[in-house]
Amino acid sequence: MTSSPGPLISLRRAGKIYQSGRVRFEALREIDLEVAAGDYLAILGPSGSGKSTLMNIIGCLDRLTSGSYLFEGDDVSGLTDDGLALLRNRRIGFVFQSFNLLPRLDILENVELPLIYQGVSRRERRERAMAQLETVGLADWRRHLPTEISGGQKQRVAIARALVTRPGLLLADEPTGNLDSRSAADIMEVLETIHAAGRTVLLITHDPGVAARARRQVHIIDGRLTETPVGRPLT
Ligand SMILES: Nc1ncnc2c1ncn2[C@@H]1O[C@H](COP(=O)(O)OP(=O)(O)OP(=O)(O)O)[C@@H](O)[C@H]1O
Ligand SMILES: [Mg+2]
Repeated sequence: MTSSPGPLISLRRAGKIYQSGRVRFEALREIDLEVAAGDYLAILGPSGSGKSTLMNIIGCLDRLTSGSYLFEGDDVSGLTDDGLALLRNRRIGFVFQSFNLLPRLDILENVELPLIYQGVSRRERRERAMAQLETVGLADWRRHLPTEISGGQKQRVAIARALVTRPGLLLADEPTGNLDSRSAADIMEVLETIHAAGRTVLLITHDPGVAARARRQVHIIDGRLTETPVGRPLT
């Protein structure tokens, strides 16, 4: 594949309709969005506005019902489910509000897990997981279980796990939603470090204070997107 000079993410007139039986709900309407590689974007909006729906589309966990989605210039709608899964596992890291760590595995093993699925050797797994734990400041905690650490620490482990596969894109859906303000500030600092290291970060939040730390902000309301110009925040 040739390296594409275009955006990492390009959505054009993207729409998503949920349909179950006779009930039809238009969750995303005519979304136009481009995200350049290396950008740091916050998607801001109230509960039910379509933030997670949009993240699931961008993260290749779900498909559009209209419009187009190009990831690194490739049309995602043309991929099979296996193709989508491959793209997701190789190129996208996910962080959720609820950490999703496996309780019986220690912290190092949790971070290593995505590399087991990729067939990486035991030794390389260990090295890469340790390096990620160091970047989030938790190397000394590697033998602890998830139940033995704080919420902020759990989220840092989740970030290390999301990055251990070296994805180009990190998607974080309300990563500070379950955290006290101090741990939340801590996580925002980690995300800034990740962005500064050259990764593309896409953050979903309903908290304007959290969104203000990103480089770019878009608002989603009733499934429609509007961009806030830099330096002129909505009040
Ligand atoms: N699988 C589904 N089937 C039907 N409707 C759905 C489905 N998933 C989401 N919706 C609806 O789509 C709308 C957007 O949901 P979404 O989860 O994207 O909102 P959100 O902005 O992430 O909200 P929150 O801040 O509460 O997480 C909501 O009205 C929701 O009820
Ligand atoms: Mg949501």
